[in-house]
Amino acid sequence: MADFQNITLEVADRIATITVDRPKALNALNPDTLRELSDAIDRVAKDDGVKVVIVTGAGDKAFVAGADIAAMVDMDEAGGRGFGEAGHAVMRKLERLPKPVIAAVNGFALGGGTELALACDIILASDHAVFGQPEIKLGIIPGFGGTQRLARKCGANVAKEMILSGNNVKADRALQIGLANAVVPAADLMDEALKLAGKLASYGAVALAAAKRAIDEGLDKAKIDDGLQVEQDAFAGLFSTEDRTEGMKAFIEKRKPDFKDR
Ligand code: CAA
Repeated sequence: MADFQNITLEVADRIATITVDRPKALNALNPDTLRELSDAIDRVAKDDGVKVVIVTGAGDKAFVAGADIAAMVDMDEAGGRGFGEAGHAVMRKLERLPKPVIAAVNGFALGGGTELALACDIILASDHAVFGQPEIKLGIIPGFGGTQRLARKCGANVAKEMILSGNNVKADRALQIGLANAVVPAADLMDEALKLAGKLASYGAVALAAAKRAIDEGLDKAKIDDGLQVEQDAFAGLFSTEDRTEGMKAFIEKRKPDFKDR
């Protein structure tokens, strides 16, 4: 559809494919891209012809390399809070969409990229996919739901290891820890995603929606919105720290950060 600049939305055979397409920033999520994603999710929600959604990234290098650091570097606490809220709203909308969503992770899925995949129902990874929550290196924490969804999906031990160390996780380990559902050769990723989507699309939409809702609402007995509020306050608060400014400037200036613990 012509009115998107940073994503594409294609519908064929009852499957909608949303592709984040900002090659110059490895598909990083800036505010405009979040708005477009939100709009695309609204469109597929309303389209009765769509039964299953695939989310992927353009190119063969990145799914989504995170929230856009250049967009965040000059944000103050209010800006960080607004950006975090916008990210939460998009991920929540995707998670609550009453249609199955498959993430086809075709490369780097870092920070907001892993968080986008976590908001999907099933994660198919290419064999060169790399997941990670490297925010700690920027003086922040995951702000698009990662502290809550990674812990829910893979357990607190994996979430703490990944979020506190900032270490990346390659596709084979992502499979081991239950982050990815399957790993396939890069060249086969979209075919496999379409094959799985086609299978799901052959089932009844009402049962698909009920299954998704039952699993998510059951898991949400310890309310995710309460957890997301804790994350949002912590994420926004870090935008007032010198370390956050230093961490993001250092990334943009391509040097190591010099953190002062304040
Ligand atoms: N935001 C903005 N720009 C980004 C970006 C991001 N998250 N990730 C990559 N880019 C840009 C780079 O700045 C670079 O731009 P220029 O060509 O203009 O210099 C371009 O994309 C290509 O990236 P690299 O040259 O760095 O490519 P590489 O192959 O050497 O490394 C990479 C790839 C390991 C993914 C590296 O780009 C990287 O570490 N990116 C940042 C990952 C990150 O920290 N993500 C978390 C962001 S914070 C977040 O997501 C918070 C949240 O939860 C809300």
